[in-house]
Amino acid sequence: MTDTIVIRPAVAADLPALRGLWERCGLHPSASDTDQRLAALIEFCGGLFLAALRDGEIVGSVMASWDGRRGWINRLAVDPAARGGRLGDRLMTEAEGRLAAIGCDKVNLLIEPDNAGVERFYRRLGYGRDELIFMEKWL
Ligand SMILES: CC(C)(COP(=O)(O)OP(=O)(O)OC[C@H]1O[C@@H](n2cnc3c(N)ncnc32)[C@H](O)[C@@H]1OP(=O)(O)O)[C@@H](O)C(=O)NCCC(=O)NCCS
Repeated sequence: MTDTIVIRPAVAADLPALRGLWERCGLHPSASDTDQRLAALIEFCGGLFLAALRDGEIVGSVMASWDGRRGWINRLAVDPAARGGRLGDRLMTEAEGRLAAIGCDKVNLLIEPDNAGVERFYRRLGYGRDELIFMEKWL
């Protein structure tokens, strides 16, 4: 199924379709996810924020980024109609390859407590759990 899928860096014009994808995948926008901020993030990510397309339609995404020390994975999403064909694996492999190519040697990601089942997906790809206390503050 995934052999007709193209993975390429996202562009600002993809944002409406990406928003639709994320909604279908249960990844709801945060207050930070205005069009302006997401378009700026696409530029900031420098080719690491990826979209997967089948017949020109966006069916997957991964928002990879590099903060200069660690790589981060956000918004990994595969359209429910495109699941089960290893597209999730392909998106992760592509993101990790691009991160490694710019000198990243460790990738972090966070899982929402109500999505804990997805841990199994990441464990298959070599990710392990680290018992950290995650803290945050809105500015
Ligand atoms: C997680 C997700 C991207 C996987 O996409 P996918 O293309 O269907 O995944 P793959 O076909 O590459 O799956 C490969 C394997 O992972 C397993 N897997 C896939 N999604 C899983 C999930 N949500 N929970 C547990 N296992 C999962 C598959 O069963 C398969 O296992 P197998 O190797 O034993 O057959 C997709 O389910 C999705 O978009 N989920 C909603 C958004 C989400 O939770 N994103 C992650 C936020 S941290």
